[in-house]
Amino acid sequence: MSNLFALDHLRVVLPSSKGDLVLVDDASLELQPKECFGLLGESGCGKSSLLTAALGLFQITQRYKDAQIKKEWSFPVQLQYESKEIWNRTVSGHSFYRGIDLLSLNHSERARYLGSHISFMPQGLASALTPTISIGNQTGEPLAIHTPDIRSEKMKQRVFEYLDLVSLADSRDRYILDPSKFSGGEAQRVKLAMSLIAAPYLVIADEPTSALDVTVQRQVIGLFQMIKEEFDVALMIVSHDVGVIAELADRIGIMYAGRIVEVGSAEEIFHRPKHPYSIGLMASFPTIAMMRMAKGGEKPKLRGISGAPPNPREIPQGCGFHPRCPFASDICFTEKPSMSELEDNHLVACHLFAEDCRKHLPLLTG
Ligand SMILES: Nc1ncnc2c1ncn2[C@@H]1O[C@H](COP(=O)(O)OP(=O)(O)O)[C@@H](O)[C@H]1O
Ligand code: SF4
Ligand SMILES: [Mg+2]
Repeated sequence: MSNLFALDHLRVVLPSSKGDLVLVDDASLELQPKECFGLLGESGCGKSSLLTAALGLFQITQRYKDAQIKKEWSFPVQLQYESKEIWNRTVSGHSFYRGIDLLSLNHSERARYLGSHISFMPQGLASALTPTISIGNQTGEPLAIHTPDIRSEKMKQRVFEYLDLVSLADSRDRYILDPSKFSGGEAQRVKLAMSLIAAPYLVIADEPTSALDVTVQRQVIGLFQMIKEEFDVALMIVSHDVGVIAELADRIGIMYAGRIVEVGSAEEIFHRPKHPYSIGLMASFPTIAMMRMAKGGEKPKLRGISGAPPNPREIPQGCGFHPRCPFASDICFTEKPSMSELEDNHLVACHLFAEDCRKHLPLLTG
């Protein structure tokens, strides 16, 4: 099957006077039409950097982020972006949409695809919306840009149609209000309506449920489930929350310290994870069986992963997971593992699964 979207050796670095900071390292993945791909990883592992880089937006969003960088890290990034050479070096690799490398296009060529073929729901709630534009106008913006000759009556009708689709309460009265008048859950609904209105083939949602309370999270997950069933669209859901990915994804990629360390079907990743980090991650997620045990008065044992993820300035040599990995051997300290393909399109970046090391497999599997 031909890919709808694919990343090929995507790398994102932040240039700094103290050396490059690697946020995304050699990320490759593929998405098929209509599938729901979940990218799962702890906060700070590089998920948002990967997404913005893949869409050619990293340097632009970074410029705004620079204002918030902790002083002690002293990145002269803003100044350095003025240099074209630094700008180009920040993101490397390829990001293909239907075989077209979005990163080889200039900004206006790329803009033909963004918002029409591919929609992006950035991380954040009301802050991800423009504070001074009414939510009605923001919802219709992708249409206004990509179908400039649309009549205003038709546009209004489409805006209402999509605000109804995401069940925004009282949209007929409130569409003229600005985002500050909406709750976090409502802002997420507006972002979703905006990302669907131009009938894209791919919707990419960065942490669509974070910072929402549990009942609103459920409603947002329900909306995505409805979109999966009713729309002819592929979804890429990015989250640190195992539960959200478990509810929505058909296939899953696991990210750790800037690298995609495992990719497989949801069934494989949840029931037969292979990478030691994925095994730890899944073991730290309460299963239904455990919850039943807890209800029955037993104390189920939830295992976690000892240690903490590295910050991007101190990613260890070799395999970035080695300080926390119970299976680490000499090679793990010096060589980055490359992706090995196991059965059923299951990919894993771990030396234990390299062709000549598979003798160690019994250690992991049983
Ligand atoms: N401008 C920046 N300066 C310094 N560090 C940054 C900057 N932008 C991102 N980072 C760091 O890069 C890492 C990856 O960030 P991000 O892509 O937002 O991760 P995630 O989305 O997985 O939480 C984090 O450790 C974050 O602190
Ligand atoms: S490559 Fe080595 S350190 Fe990394 S996960 Fe595999 S066994 Fe552990
Ligand atoms: Mg993020």
